[in-house]
Amino acid sequence: TKQKLWGGRFTGRTDPLMHEFNQSLGYDKRMHAADIKGSIAYTKALKRVGILTEEEEIKIIRGLETVGKEWQDGKFVVQTDDEDIHTANERRLSEIIGPLGGKLHTGRSRNDQVATDMRLWLLDEIADVQFGLRGLIRVMVERADKEKDILMPGYTHLQRGQPIRWSHLLLSHAFAFSSDLERLQQMIPRIAVLPLGSGALAGNPFVVDREFLAKELGFQSVAENSLHGVGDRDFVVEFLMWSSLTMTHVSRMAEDLIVYSTAEFGFITLSDAYSTGSSMMPQKKNPDSLELLRGKSGRIFGNMAGFLMTYKGLPSTYNKDLQEDKEPLFDTLTNVSMSLKIFEGVISTLEVHEARMREALTMDVLATDLADYLVRKGIPFRETHHISGRAVALAEAKKCQLNDITLDEYRQLSDKFEEDVKEVFDFEASVERRQAIGGTSRKMLDRQISILRKLLEEG
Ligand code: ARG
Repeated sequence: TKQKLWGGRFTGRTDPLMHEFNQSLGYDKRMHAADIKGSIAYTKALKRVGILTEEEEIKIIRGLETVGKEWQDGKFVVQTDDEDIHTANERRLSEIIGPLGGKLHTGRSRNDQVATDMRLWLLDEIADVQFGLRGLIRVMVERADKEKDILMPGYTHLQRGQPIRWSHLLLSHAFAFSSDLERLQQMIPRIAVLPLGSGALAGNPFVVDREFLAKELGFQSVAENSLHGVGDRDFVVEFLMWSSLTMTHVSRMAEDLIVYSTAEFGFITLSDAYSTGSSMMPQKKNPDSLELLRGKSGRIFGNMAGFLMTYKGLPSTYNKDLQEDKEPLFDTLTNVSMSLKIFEGVISTLEVHEARMREALTMDVLATDLADYLVRKGIPFRETHHISGRAVALAEAKKCQLNDITLDEYRQLSDKFEEDVKEVFDFEASVERRQAIGGTSRKMLDRQISILRKLLEEG
């Protein structure tokens, strides 16, 4: 009869439902490559301290490579007794190379092993997330560069506020994503801390060279305290938090685009590739891609909150509760990666309706500019704000636009109004006045674009 890896002290069998409850292979097989990589490095470290001969080292490494290849080729056969990726790989190794396989786990515990695998796996996956995020920022910057001529109302409270360039809005979201990119980069040194060599909890009695292990596996440093090394999942929390914030940015931009794609706004049309229809209403074209992006953010936040809840009450070092770190992390990674790719597709293919955006630019969005006009004639802004407000009220009463009010009428509001007030009613001129850093003028958009392009070029 087959025996569990830890079966020595047991006489009774595991309840079958308990086995199912306890196993994590169903999902942690996703880390098969990291597990093999970690074991190969550990084999080398054991050889260096004389636990393995060179011949044994070579045999074990070859065996591990064979196991790794079986996973890669989809040929690894899971046995009913396999508990997790670590026990499955070790079981298979011993089948291939015999009892020598039993030397691999010397001084190692699944506790330092699993923490190492997770970090290795995440570091590898993060490269993909970074790539996705860069791709997303890039399409936003390229669109912004091409579509600088398109003007639209900028909103606060979803009420028309001031004219802006459409590119300015795109770039506003791109800057949020550029902070995400920065934060992701800054997280890496904290993920790349090596737990391997911490043993179950107290440290490694065969004095393996942990700095060698770190170098072998591409870690930047070594966990300095073995208890912390096996029990620390802050890197999981941090990645989940990062994902929650990044998906919040995705969600907020998706919301803008959902609103703009309604018939009522009509500012953009989503490509068919990222829309779906209704099973009942033939005319419908729904922005499902954007709604899913908005919806996913809730799920990712849930993954973060769920794992933090699991993590918060745990006593020191390893507790099996920690196995619950994997599904939220894996699920988050899968969904964030996919979201970034989908969003890139949505943004690069959507159609912008310049004319509709123009139509939405009613003269009232120049009321601030009207007040600013009087400021330039020497009146304090608090007064000009009031005068401009009265002009707005007058236009409303007359059911006309601000530029339909006659000069005589304007002069009744303030004698500082002159013939040149006409020049206020020009949306292009309004956006071009925003020449301070951060403004919506062409020049300041070029500045934003070059800053983001530089960020994309680095690394
Ligand atoms: N599958 C386990 C996990 O994911 C591996 C560690 C098991 N360690 C233990 N002491 N039972 O956390």
